[in-house]
Amino acid sequence: MGQPSSIVILTGAGISAESGIDTFRSAGGLWEQHRVEDVATPEGFARNPNLVLNFYDMRRAALANVAPNPAHEALARLEREFRGDLLLVTQNVDDLHERGGSARVLHMHGELKSALCTSCEMRSPWLGTMIERPACPVCRAPTLRPDVVWFGEMPYEMGRIYQALEACDLFVSIGTSGAVYPAAGFVQEARANGARTLELNLERSEGSRFFHETRLGAASVLVPEWVEEVLAG
Ligand code: OAD
Repeated sequence: MGQPSSIVILTGAGISAESGIDTFRSAGGLWEQHRVEDVATPEGFARNPNLVLNFYDMRRAALANVAPNPAHEALARLEREFRGDLLLVTQNVDDLHERGGSARVLHMHGELKSALCTSCEMRSPWLGTMIERPACPVCRAPTLRPDVVWFGEMPYEMGRIYQALEACDLFVSIGTSGAVYPAAGFVQEARANGARTLELNLERSEGSRFFHETRLGAASVLVPEWVEEVLAG
């Protein structure tokens, strides 16, 4: 196959695993340490806001101790050197794509370094903590929450993502278990519109059978290899 003209990439926790960020569904992963209903739902936040604010304050602070790996860096290289259309969609709330050099990243599940005000609904960059109920930079109300999409909430920019999935000729999924919709359905959407589909993951994901091709291995190895391949045409 020659060089594709339009690529959509979806990344998940697996691309940041080698940087030292826990994935969700592995043994000992985040969802074994914490109950999803407690820390990743609007109901959990209403029940115990301190627990939730503290959970995300800790995860935000932990970003200072991790660094991007060769997989993030390779995708940044692709953004710089690929001549066609490229949309990088991540389910990750960390900032490792940006620190790896990617300038255009669509965080469909929100970002740790962003605050969402439940009063004025504005999103603001946020580097500190929220447990002390700081004022919203826009409306001054002390009603900030993590700008992270919880279960039962709509991910960001779905219109733009589906448009790109319809138009792309290559869809690549990297380091995601395919357990959470709507992201898990992107492969079928792209494929239904004629795209070739490739999965790069440590193990077969739940949606593996929907891909034309699956390559198994560590993202830090597979992603730079794949980027090299694409750029070589
Ligand atoms: P998961 O923890 O569900 O899956 C991570 C995937 O990465 C698994 O399939 C692993 O096999 C794979 N993996 C682990 N290490 C890897 C490595 N070094 N190289 C390549 N692959 C590796 O994480 P996600 O699929 O991102 O949502 O989870 C999706 C969503 O579920 C998250 O965005 C989060 C979570 O609940 C919300 O919080 C809304």
